[in-house]
Amino acid sequence: MDSDQPDLARVAELRDRYDAHLLVDVAHDLGVLGKTGRGALEDGDLLSTPDLIVGSFSKVFASIGGFVAVRDVSLLRAIQGFSGSYTFSNYLIPPQIGAVSAAFDIAFSSEGQDRRRRVLSNVEMLRRLLAERGVATVGQPSAMAIALVGDEAHAREAYRTLLSSGVILNCIEFPAVRRGEARFRMQLTPNHEPESLTTVADAVASAVNLRPR
Ligand SMILES: Cc1ncc(COP(=O)(O)O)c(C=O)c1O
Repeated sequence: MDSDQPDLARVAELRDRYDAHLLVDVAHDLGVLGKTGRGALEDGDLLSTPDLIVGSFSKVFASIGGFVAVRDVSLLRAIQGFSGSYTFSNYLIPPQIGAVSAAFDIAFSSEGQDRRRRVLSNVEMLRRLLAERGVATVGQPSAMAIALVGDEAHAREAYRTLLSSGVILNCIEFPAVRRGEARFRMQLTPNHEPESLTTVADAVASAVNLRPR
């Protein structure tokens, strides 16, 4: 939710000690973090460590849907048999698969390296601009900046103000996060210009700081 990153090597040790399974959600980092874009697992040299990896195509991969990758095929069969969203949903349609496939090609090419560097620099800049304006950000830099707003009613009001001023972001509230900890999630691209980031930071700060949290 917040682009949090645990100590994956330590979590894997605990998995082994307690004979558990390790599932890693790479929705925020695949294609963005890691030496060649393979995410935080790549940086920790842990790509083959998890039992399950789940990822989303709705961020870096410009589509919707996602994937589950497993090491043990019996786990795959169990998921296929018991997952409501697998049984009761339709498959991705060809244009979605085409977009994902093209995005994968870009993400893992030299163009991808450049786009990764630019999107991370944009996220770092937006986080800094928000902090300078008194808006706390949470999590670690990924393809999104996440600002803590607090009270749900206040977050909705601020969200509406932002929408009417042309700033579109995600307002996340309970039950996705704890009560009283509503957040704004802002997904960035490598093509956002510094002026746009300043405009967004100003707008978010003024909407969030309208009244004390
Ligand atoms: C950490 C994380 N995992 C998974 C998802 C699911 O993404 P989607 O349902 O858009 O594929 C999200 C959505 O924002 C997310 O933040």
